[in-house]
Amino acid sequence: MERTLKPAARPRVLRVPAYAKVNLGLEVLGVREDGYHELRTLFQTIDLHDDVVIRPRRRGLEVRCDHPDVPQDERNLALRAALELRRHAGIERGAEIAISKRIPVGGGLGGGSSDAAAVLMALDRLWAVGLGPAGLHGLARRLGADVPFFLVGGTALGLARGDEVYPLRCQVRGHVVLVDPGRPISTAAVFARMDRGLTARENSNKIFRFVSSDLEGFRAFPILANDLEQAALEEAPDLADQVGRIRGILIREGAALAALSGSGSSFFGLYDDARRARGAQSALTAAGFIVLRARTVSLDQYRNSWARSLGAWRDARGSNQSRSRHHGDHGRQGHPGRGRKAEGLRVHRV
Ligand code: C5P
Repeated sequence: MERTLKPAARPRVLRVPAYAKVNLGLEVLGVREDGYHELRTLFQTIDLHDDVVIRPRRRGLEVRCDHPDVPQDERNLALRAALELRRHAGIERGAEIAISKRIPVGGGLGGGSSDAAAVLMALDRLWAVGLGPAGLHGLARRLGADVPFFLVGGTALGLARGDEVYPLRCQVRGHVVLVDPGRPISTAAVFARMDRGLTARENSNKIFRFVSSDLEGFRAFPILANDLEQAALEEAPDLADQVGRIRGILIREGAALAALSGSGSSFFGLYDDARRARGAQSALTAAGFIVLRARTVSLDQYRNSWARSLGAWRDARGSNQSRSRHHGDHGRQGHPGRGRKAEGLRVHRV
């Protein structure tokens, strides 16, 4: 009997993980003419992620989120991303966007920016706009300074407002222990405080020293720092004594780096192995902190994750019309942070 092969059913929804980031280092170089700050930062994606589920609609754009502090109107960056893409492409399509939040809100972990980048990437595919990450960069930077990084992922250098992003050939692999103080800090308020105290800064370019070292093992990490830390603690004085205890525990448990992420409020430690990271997690939990553990997501793991999420849609459509325009569409897949031996703060050259 002859069997006919049915084409794969088109999935009704597109599910994409939106990963968090930490800033391994952050230098504020001065105030720009547009009021923003000139930065030099080292971004790193981690496998803590929100889930973004997108259902196509004929018309109408709608966003829902299960977190009470996330607005569901046009203040929501993910909805603005969808509106901007639709306007840019001059199309009349719709979508329903559902966000399950796991990334702490207002924690300096880029959750809102990552959700927005995920929506841009997913709708670019779903609506067959075909811009790809490079074509989406202009839209992304208009949405927010951190959004372009999430079109790239992995270990990357951020310059200008943080929106000029260059992936590094050396990708950091390690374990991250995050402390969520459970209170948001406003990024704009931290930068404003920074301005009041901003004297002429010595341009020590620690990040240059870091990226130009051989990056083997731990040695280069302790030179990195976050210039926003002091202003963030002035903005949230209730965190100041907690931060001393958190840093003490992270370092005592063997962190290669213990720092504030972005403008806070999350603090993190970077570890070379899971055992040390678990030790830090237990010690911090025993001290009463809310702790999350994650692994770094490298550039290739990030790309593979996108290829897997978006590929399901493409394969089911039986079309690869925009394939060559997506840098994520190559390589074998593997869940970021899993299926690979990830012990050691190893540096992976891409
Ligand atoms: O771009 P985004 O909306 O994420 O930035 C939030 C706020 O952080 C901006 O309104 C600005 O006050 C501040 N910021 C800055 N310089 C940067 C990035 C952000 O002053 N490079």
